[in-house]
Amino acid sequence: MIKGIFPIVKLRNIETPFYYYDMELLNNTLKTVNTEAGKYGFEPHYAIKANANPSILKTIAKAGLGADCVSGGEVDAAIKAGFPASKIVFAGVGKTDWEINLALDNDIFCFNAESIPELEVINELAGKKGKTAHVKLRVNPNVDAHTHHYITTGLSENKFGFNLEDLDDVIAKIKTLPNLEFIGLHFHIGSQITDLSSYENLCVRINELQDEFEKKGIQVKNINIGGGLGINYEHPNHMPIADFESYFHLFGKHLKLRQGQRLHCEPGRSIVAQCGSLITKVTYVKKGKSKQFAIVDAGMTDLIRPALYEAYHRIENITSDKEPQKYDVVGPICESSDVFLKDTDLNETQRGDLLAIRSAGAYGEIMASRYNLRKLPGSVISTEI
Ligand code: LLP
Repeated sequence: MIKGIFPIVKLRNIETPFYYYDMELLNNTLKTVNTEAGKYGFEPHYAIKANANPSILKTIAKAGLGADCVSGGEVDAAIKAGFPASKIVFAGVGKTDWEINLALDNDIFCFNAESIPELEVINELAGKKGKTAHVKLRVNPNVDAHTHHYITTGLSENKFGFNLEDLDDVIAKIKTLPNLEFIGLHFHIGSQITDLSSYENLCVRINELQDEFEKKGIQVKNINIGGGLGINYEHPNHMPIADFESYFHLFGKHLKLRQGQRLHCEPGRSIVAQCGSLITKVTYVKKGKSKQFAIVDAGMTDLIRPALYEAYHRIENITSDKEPQKYDVVGPICESSDVFLKDTDLNETQRGDLLAIRSAGAYGEIMASRYNLRKLPGSVISTEI
């Protein structure tokens, strides 16, 4: 009936709410990433935290990307989906013993370490297994990502990583830990970054740091710039693939890599956000004095981003082609923040219509909860229906 991207007839018969993943778009996005990163020999590791749906993971592994994990569960999911252990990096401020052991048993590429006590524990556990663990140090470059304060991480006063001024001591400490090998530096300045100049600042900071390291004779084999490339939530139809060309070009141009040095990155949102939509059915249309509400069967338990970050997701009625009217689109949960979007234009809506909440492929399904004892949302893969 509307918007060629949704196979409405097929979706009509599936129990809502569910995530619908457009695999053609995911594959085209992955092709673009490989082409643009390939121009400079950069190596992308998909940040699994954005979406760990098994079909999505398998597709990304098949495209040849590595994996960026932040828990034992993610390391396990990465291996099961077919990511080679040699392309798995493991970050996180609070890695527990079983998680470190799992990573060691699988011989993952490296640990992105965030504190001295953590380095000590990795050293001890690696020693017990007679292994040497590769470690990168996560560094706070003190670069402002100009994004939502909940997802800015690169400023000096937060729980992530080491501060620049402590690095010398940390590297000296690693030399005393016989089961660790220091292989490089890891940065991540924030998420949903649309102003690429933040990344230019990151390059300047990394170049300065590399100059200092060179003077001190410290060898850095590997630089990891983290993730964070933003997507266009306002216009998912016009800009379905993020601007990977400019993103990789920027690092190719501004970052002075030393000979033999490899550059890794960890895109999450920019790979999966646009291929996913949350499909929800309108349960009731309630008319107030000056407003009307489309009450839908999805809630903040299925997609928490609007409630948690006041995030904008475009919403479309994909089964009506009547004249648009204004609606507040709200969920059924007993929380006043359970609102997807206020005062938005939807084609005239009635009970039973299907709405698509767009750009929901990243940090959507994976952040769902069972609050109110609701069912978890389902998922539908375009190529499997
Ligand atoms: N690397 C590290 C170390 C990270 O902390 C993150 C995200 C990424 C990579 C991937 O960043 P991306 O390319 O997806 O921006 N739940 C929030 C986003 C939290 C991001 C946390 N870290 C949201 O829904 O916006």
